Amino acid sequence: MVLSQTERKRLQSKYGEWAIVTGASSGIGLELATQLALAGFNLIINARDSQRINKVENDLKSKANIQIKAVAADLSESNGVEKIIEASHNLNIGLLINNAGFGTSGLFTDSSLHEEINMLRVNCEAVLSLTHFFAQKFKQQNRGGIIFLSSLVAFQGVPYASNYAATKAYIQSFAEALAVELKPFNVDVLAAAPGPVESGFGHRSNMKMGKALVPSQLGVPILNALGKQTNVLPGLLSKILIYSLRTVPRWAKIKIMQKVMGGFTEHQRK
Ligand SMILES: NC(=O)c1ccc[n+]([C@@H]2O[C@H](COP(=O)([O-])OP(=O)(O)OC[C@H]3O[C@@H](n4cnc5c(N)ncnc54)[C@H](OP(=O)(O)O)[C@@H]3O)[C@@H](O)[C@H]2O)c1
Repeated sequence: MVLSQTERKRLQSKYGEWAIVTGASSGIGLELATQLALAGFNLIINARDSQRINKVENDLKSKANIQIKAVAADLSESNGVEKIIEASHNLNIGLLINNAGFGTSGLFTDSSLHEEINMLRVNCEAVLSLTHFFAQKFKQQNRGGIIFLSSLVAFQGVPYASNYAATKAYIQSFAEALAVELKPFNVDVLAAAPGPVESGFGHRSNMKMGKALVPSQLGVPILNALGKQTNVLPGLLSKILIYSLRTVPRWAKIKIMQKVMGGFTEHQRK
């Protein structure tokens, strides 16, 4: 899937000339960075592993005539966000994509507190800090866009992924409210809530997900939705699940998610 010429022009004129994509070395972030590169955006791309992010830098430069700054930084560490902000000095940043994130799975009581806190830092605290900095900048310049990676798990509690789902509920709620606050300043906010996607995510979270989308199915619908709506549910499965469960009481949705997540996780397979 590729963006149409009209969409490329629209995105460039509304959110160019530089975009920041966190977690751009794999999966959804890599796909979003690739689509933006093909649309002519200069990029600040981030991930922890310097070799992988430098390889993405070289690959994207061979596909598009753009400037790229690769920032190897761990967003669970306090100086991770600072490194990205430093890299953005004197650049005309118009778009922030808060994509970096990971999940954990299984019984919360079996989890590592260190890992759960790290997840909170990457999925929420780093997103909060980056958004605080760039939302002010975008408000001042009276233009900009911010994309958040929410998830289908954001809309109710999810047994066996309790803390991960809670981090995404935070993102969903934060994005929805910011969309309203920032609208008068010509800043567009989008929460993208995909269902299962085949990426590095499943391996790291120890989830085995069936009926997953592939990242190349996500970049275009997410970018097309920016500036037109506040929420996007990429893929048919997400739409069916969300719309069909709309009238189901929250307690029942939690039970359904217990079944779904139980099937994805070690907990059920043991
Ligand atoms: N896959 C799904 O089913 C799914 C569904 C809904 C929402 N999402 C959300 O979509 C986003 C992207 O996930 P994905 O599926 O594309 O996963 P992925 O393939 O594992 O990619 C995650 C990216 O984030 C980077 N990253 C991870 N931890 C980081 C840290 N501490 N600091 C900086 N970068 C870090 C990774 O690179 P390094 O490892 O080198 O740091 C990688 O570039 C996440 O926010 C996830 O919660 C995923």
